[in-house]
Amino acid sequence: MIIVNEKEHVFHLRNERISYLLYIMESGQPGHLYFGKALQPGGSYLHMVEKAHRPMSTYIKEGDLYTSYEHLRQEYPCYGTSDYRYPAMEILGRDGSRICKPQYQGYAVIHGKKPLPGLPATYTEEEGEADTLEIYMNDPLRDLEFILSYTIFRDVDALARSVSFINRGNEVLFLNRAMSLSLDMPDMDYQTVQLSGSWARERAVRIRDLEPGITAICSMRGNSSHQHNPFLALKRKNTNEQSGDVFGFSLLYSGNFLAQAEADNYQVLRIMLGINPFGFQWKLEPGETFVTPEAVMVYSAEGLNGMSRQFHRLFRNRLVRGYWRDRERPVLINNWEATQFDYTQQDLLQFAEKAKECGIELFVLDDGWFGARNDDRRGLGDWRANREKLPEGIEGLAQKIEALGMKFGLWFEPEMVNKDSDLFRAHPDYIIRTPGRTASHGRNQFVLDFSRKEVVDAIYRQLYELLSNASISYIKWDMNRSISECYSAAYPADRQGEIFHRYILGVYDLHERLIRDFPQLLIESCASGGGRFDAGMLYYAPQGWVSDDTDAIERTKIQYGTSFVYPLSSMGAHVSACPNEQIGRTTSIATRGNAALTGAFGYELDLNKLSEEEIRTVKKQVAFYKENRSLLAQGDFYRLLSPFEGNFAAWEICQPDGSRALVTVTRILSEVNGPYRRLPLRGLLPDQSYHIQSPHLSYDAYGDELMQFGLMLEDRSAGQVTDGGDTCHDFCSLLYEITAIQTV
Ligand code: GLA
Repeated sequence: MIIVNEKEHVFHLRNERISYLLYIMESGQPGHLYFGKALQPGGSYLHMVEKAHRPMSTYIKEGDLYTSYEHLRQEYPCYGTSDYRYPAMEILGRDGSRICKPQYQGYAVIHGKKPLPGLPATYTEEEGEADTLEIYMNDPLRDLEFILSYTIFRDVDALARSVSFINRGNEVLFLNRAMSLSLDMPDMDYQTVQLSGSWARERAVRIRDLEPGITAICSMRGNSSHQHNPFLALKRKNTNEQSGDVFGFSLLYSGNFLAQAEADNYQVLRIMLGINPFGFQWKLEPGETFVTPEAVMVYSAEGLNGMSRQFHRLFRNRLVRGYWRDRERPVLINNWEATQFDYTQQDLLQFAEKAKECGIELFVLDDGWFGARNDDRRGLGDWRANREKLPEGIEGLAQKIEALGMKFGLWFEPEMVNKDSDLFRAHPDYIIRTPGRTASHGRNQFVLDFSRKEVVDAIYRQLYELLSNASISYIKWDMNRSISECYSAAYPADRQGEIFHRYILGVYDLHERLIRDFPQLLIESCASGGGRFDAGMLYYAPQGWVSDDTDAIERTKIQYGTSFVYPLSSMGAHVSACPNEQIGRTTSIATRGNAALTGAFGYELDLNKLSEEEIRTVKKQVAFYKENRSLLAQGDFYRLLSPFEGNFAAWEICQPDGSRALVTVTRILSEVNGPYRRLPLRGLLPDQSYHIQSPHLSYDAYGDELMQFGLMLEDRSAGQVTDGGDTCHDFCSLLYEITAIQTV
């Protein structure tokens, strides 16, 4: 998959569908040629380099009025050597200079893909799945080596990139900026797509037209954040969900990030993704190596849905790993919204018994089970059972839950501490704070300094003891505040710029240790809902709590946005009580079920409080999920109608072989005497006959009809007087089953 033209120094990374081309300039800098739909393997491509003599430019060589980095598309640009755009890296030497001139040294082609030490990364499993190109560069003045790494995958239209810096000289260097990916696109005629929001309304789809200058999103909070997701896409103006060019960029990282598009005066568009340079500085001693997080870039000619399917396929199969990757996820019940901190063992057992009766498989005990935790002002850091609530400890409760025939799961917030805790009393120095200044709190809690190994060790010991002594199959790993007054007591002044990154490395390290010790443990990540829902976490935690907002209608938006990058199997989605805790809205149990069924499914309410009829529905939902969970987890996902654009949300999950599909259609507000509606489906076999089944509708049709004319929507508000039936109210959601009819 990697074609090297030795004579022209051109590297062509190519699979059947995409090509990425780079070359080495005469000056020794790697230049960019092309990224997009696959080009012929044999061509010569150097003529794609565009350079002209332009007034008011700076040129790199005397006597040459053409070669200016300002005009040349590059692979990993630096500032101050005739390019005036934002650079991919900035290296500060002891002499105070920030100029760097790396020179090409050589390359290697590696079959497969190397892991990134201490960092999340995509991987390969079988021969021939991916090839990696490593480009070796060196700045002779500093003897700083750079390795630019590019992996191309055979079966996914994606490339993975990262950069390593190795200090081969004798001088201490500082990396002020070390981006994971830089890409100079030949024009700026794109819109950017980002996923932005806030607590309880994460990952709303936002589209912006590009103008000359910078379009950027970032996090400076220590976690990837509710505010912006480490993802950016470029689409043409006429690209929609189903067709048109899209380039998607995702950073596999859970800390401070920057995703930026810079359109210059020649309409070249520079995309950049990596650790946020703000507040970052990494000291690189002689002999030391720094490796950037990985960035993944996807190209699709099949619109935004096409981009998402590539991300889903890669992340589901070659980022998520271990025991749970291909296994069906258990239907769970979580007690948080039902009880908050106020419960007894007896309450929990009653709760679990009813859940078992409904077919639920995993009982998750949320916050409040440990230390003196009766409210959010105390207890974090003391990961021992609160014996007043749980007289038989976690071991005893877990045994009782297992005796009911369910698995047991537990909530933790490993990175945090309350001042009212034994851990803080013993180690007040364990928190992140700046000497001489007050430490700001968030939810009455403080952030443990995970940049220090001894702090991670202390938490690891507590978690290890609990997980080894009690039968715990699942943990919900929460993180409920961002970092402030970032400073570590354990590091000298010239290493304080490393703390945000070292903190995340500590978080990854603790995950890694738990996965090593308890390989069958299912980890669900959480950060006040979706404050750290990113591709980095997916490497450790195959599912994540999408949002603290569990209202079914809000969730259609949040899950719609989340699906741009992340597969359904990663989206923790629960049916909760009504009126909804966050928004006060009442929706039917069917609507709530439909929203949650297209995720890692569960409940978050006291089932003992439901009516008999609602319990019958819950049992049906659980049974339906179990029957369909492999399709829901592995199927191709298509967004059909956007809740950001109209009154409907609709999506489809289709078996890759076209044999079965599930379609969810949610109408937000009721209408009267509206139009007849049809919904064109995707991914079916045109000449296959299907049976269509929904609560009130049953007919047969060929795949071509369903994809061209569309699925006929059952909606009593269309063309009929509203008759009070169960499809003519606000917040109505219907699930359609489309099943291939077996021919004999
Ligand atoms: C966060 C989580 C919730 C719940 C609470 C417990 O807000 O997102 O799901 O676990 O913490 O305190």
